[in-house]
Amino acid sequence: MSIKPVTTAVFPVGGQGTRFLPATKVVPKELLPVVDRPLLQYAVDEALAAGIERMVFVTARGKNALEDYFDVAGELVASLKAKGKTAELAVLDETQLSPGQVVCVRQQDPAGLGHAVWCARHITGNDAFAVLLPDELLWNPAAPALAEMHTAYKQLGGNIISVLEVPEDHTSRYGIVTPGAVDGRITEVRALVEKPAPGTAPSRLAAIGRYILQPEVMGVLARGKRGAGGEIQLTDAMAEMIGVQPFHALTFTGTRFDCGDKAGHITANIALALARDDVGPAVREWLKAQQF
Ligand code: G1P
Repeated sequence: MSIKPVTTAVFPVGGQGTRFLPATKVVPKELLPVVDRPLLQYAVDEALAAGIERMVFVTARGKNALEDYFDVAGELVASLKAKGKTAELAVLDETQLSPGQVVCVRQQDPAGLGHAVWCARHITGNDAFAVLLPDELLWNPAAPALAEMHTAYKQLGGNIISVLEVPEDHTSRYGIVTPGAVDGRITEVRALVEKPAPGTAPSRLAAIGRYILQPEVMGVLARGKRGAGGEIQLTDAMAEMIGVQPFHALTFTGTRFDCGDKAGHITANIALALARDDVGPAVREWLKAQQF
C-alpha cells in the first residue's frame, strides 16, 4: 500500500511571546522580522517546499494580526499598482497563499503545545499531518527540513520528527530521544522524554520543532494528561505512540536558529542578512570593522 502524502500542516502560534516584550505587546512574535520576512513566513515557505497545501494556524486572543498577514492587503495592492511599484507587488504576490489555504483556529486555554496541536483536530481529521514550530528557523535552502522528512515518511510511514544533537547541558530544554537502530541520518525512536532533569537525559538528540504525525496522536492528546511544567505535552502523547506505530527521527543538516530566544533571533537576522545580495555587503562591512 502506498503512503498518502501529507498535505496539512499545523503551526502553533498562540504563545504570548513574553521574551520579546515590549515589542510583542502589539506584534505577535511570529511576525517579528528576520531581515524583512516575518519569522512565520520561513516556516510557511518550508511547508510549501514540502508540498503542504493547507496551513492551520492555532492562534489565540490578541493575535489577529497573524490572520491579517495571510489575507490580501487590498488597499496596499491598489496603491502600489497606482504608483507602478512592481518589485514591491511581486514580494506580496510571492508570499500570498490562495483563498481557502489558510485555516485559523483559536487555542482558548494556554495549556501547552500538545493542547495547541489538539485544537487543530477537526481540520487534520483522519490523515497524517505535519507540525512546525515557527520559533525554530531551520535554514537549509538546498534541502529544507520538512521536505526531507516528507521524503523519508513516504518510505517509512508512521511518525517522524526532526532532531539535532545539542550540548549535554542543554538537554533539559527539549524533548529528548532514546535512540534505537541508526541508519545514516535516520534513528529509530525507542522513547521520548520532555525536558529531562539535568544529568538524566537518555541522549543528546533533541526534537527541534518539526513533526510528521499520525492522526491517532489526537486521541492521546484528548485525554489531557499534564506533563512537564503542568502542561499538556506533545512529547508525552508522541511517546505513547512508540511501539504502536513506526517512530523515527531524522537528523537535520543545516543551520538551526532558536528564534524564541533573543540571541537566536538576532543571530538569524545577521546570518540571513549576510546571505543576501541586497543587504549582505553592508552588514559584512560593518561586522568586519568591529573590534570583537
Ligand atoms: C517545545 C517542545 C520540545 C521541543 C522544543 C523545540 O518546547 O515541547 O519537545 O524540543 O519545543 O524547540 P518549548 O520550546 O516550547 O518549551
